[in-house]
Amino acid sequence: MYACAYVVVLAFTCLAAASPVNPTIAHVEVIEETDSFLDNAHYLNNEQIAELFARLSRDYPALAQAYTIGRTTQGRELHALALNAPAPNGNGDDLLRPMVKLVANIQGDEALGRQIVLYMAEYLASSYQLDSQVQRLLNTTEIHFLPSCNPDGFAAAKVSQMLLLTRTMTNMA
Ligand SMILES: *[C@@H]1O[C@H](CO)[C@@H](O)[C@H](O)[C@H]1NC(C)=O
Repeated sequence: MYACAYVVVLAFTCLAAASPVNPTIAHVEVIEETDSFLDNAHYLNNEQIAELFARLSRDYPALAQAYTIGRTTQGRELHALALNAPAPNGNGDDLLRPMVKLVANIQGDEALGRQIVLYMAEYLASSYQLDSQVQRLLNTTEIHFLPSCNPDGFAAAKVSQMLLLTRTMTNMA
């Protein structure tokens, strides 16, 4: 849960910092607009994360770069995605661009943050053309997503029990 809360706080901080004028921003939409998680809770496995990041890089080549930061002790790749929209004239401002990283699923069986990071990456990439606040965020900030830094632990965990816990938590919320 700490990992999850950490990610949420970071995400809110990052969005709030990008939008001082209008604080009622994307943190609600992130969940509601792209999400079927509450109706149909499911977690992407490591291969599906790779596919999602590859698709985002393909669909939004000017914004998204998928990469890996290496392999776990059991040989699973650690998938990451970078999102940013560098200024086209490349005038050197990029050196001063703040960089943020969102890391989740540090404990293998605490997986909610993993899904939140994935939804957030997808939401930001797909909203860039449509939402001026997202545009401003990605124009001025480089964001790196590492949805799972423990895919070995996730693979070993019992997903059915994680989903049960997720449902219990969302019913309480
Ligand atoms: C983001 O950057 C693009 C390209 O430089 C520019 O056309 C657009 O107006 C910028 N959007 C915002 C909200 O600053």
